Amino acid sequence: MWRHCYHEAVIPLLDVRQLSIEFHVTASGVAAPRAAGQPLRLRSGQAGAAVPTRSLFAVGDLSFSIAPREVLGLVGESGSGKSVTSLAIMRLLPPQARVSGEILFAESSAVRNLPRLSDDSMRQLRGSRLAMIFQEPMTALNPVMRVGDQIAEAVLAHNPLPKREAWHRAVDAMNDVAIPEPARRARDYPHQLSGGMRQRVMIAMAIVNRPQLLIADEPTTALDVTIQAQILELLAELRAKFGLAMLFVSHDLAVVSQVADRVAVMYAGNLVELGPKREIFQAPAHPYTRGLLHAVPDLKTDRNRPLQTIEGAVPPLQAMPPGCAFEPRCGFRVSDCQRAMPPLVEVSAGHWARCPVVNPGST
Ligand SMILES: Nc1ncnc2c1ncn2[C@@H]1O[C@H](COP(=O)(O)OP(=O)(O)O)[C@@H](O)[C@H]1O
Ligand code: SF4
Ligand SMILES: [Mg+2]
Repeated sequence: MWRHCYHEAVIPLLDVRQLSIEFHVTASGVAAPRAAGQPLRLRSGQAGAAVPTRSLFAVGDLSFSIAPREVLGLVGESGSGKSVTSLAIMRLLPPQARVSGEILFAESSAVRNLPRLSDDSMRQLRGSRLAMIFQEPMTALNPVMRVGDQIAEAVLAHNPLPKREAWHRAVDAMNDVAIPEPARRARDYPHQLSGGMRQRVMIAMAIVNRPQLLIADEPTTALDVTIQAQILELLAELRAKFGLAMLFVSHDLAVVSQVADRVAVMYAGNLVELGPKREIFQAPAHPYTRGLLHAVPDLKTDRNRPLQTIEGAVPPLQAMPPGCAFEPRCGFRVSDCQRAMPPLVEVSAGHWARCPVVNPGST
């Protein structure tokens, strides 16, 4: 049994403890709908017949924390469970998802366990103390509403203010995210803005009520490289200006390295490495992290040769190996790796890796 010391010593703003996320699906992999409190059944052609469903763990036993004003980068290949973790924190998962574990959020003097909050209390926190931005702002914005009205609506959802005052706050937030001529652009509809400007609008909407924690799920993935750099710079400025803590999610370790203080690496729903950014980059302790780093170009990379990638693919949820999920792709594997999920071991202070083979001296 491993110790749960991979939380920071400072009292965390967010403390995720042994989070598991299960989806109930039919044999064909279709999500099984579930009414609250009802057994998991799906009707087939015959009325009343139940189709067997099974649970697939998208995330298992995940623990990490984020201190006030800290940026934690959450990285891993597509399908590793980053988005479902973010959505679980925001309580935005679809109803067929079952969440267990604790998600503790320190709000003023109280610590709240988000999965157990009433819907009303969660609605009050979401968009005020906790906010999220997504990869594709167009899906989150209302195409037939002026962007200024959409931001003002976010203000009014949490503050009993006259509409005029909410509009002013919306324009101020657009100014905070460096949208030129914010009073004029506030009257635009989303389609009148570029991809980069739309992402700025989403960020304005997220920060307008001054959240303590911003969850950014692949916020720059849909943008070209120049705009991506500008958005990362903006997030860094907002962090400094408003003392924002962030969970910054990306499949791209190079992007994460630009914003994060610490980095958590996920593989197939499990935390495989967690530590200060410097350590993750200079002394990666898990073979998967090492593979990810080899896939990141640097100044010495020969641009004429294809980048090294990790051979193989993340196993599908329905075919997880019984032991270390990375075993089929791992160049360091030994026979024990197939037996049971390896524990997280502390490689150095605050640096944890789920590989006792590469880190035999650690406890
Ligand atoms: N609604 C759902 N029903 C069933 N499985 C899901 C659902 N949403 C996500 N998953 C599965 O959970 C796993 C993690 O997905 P996700 O968090 O989106 O990965 P990432 O963001 O790291 O790319 C994937 O295998 C995905 O197929
Ligand atoms: S536990 Fe074994 S298979 Fe898993 S990463 Fe370490 S060496 Fe590789
Ligand atoms: Mg995702």
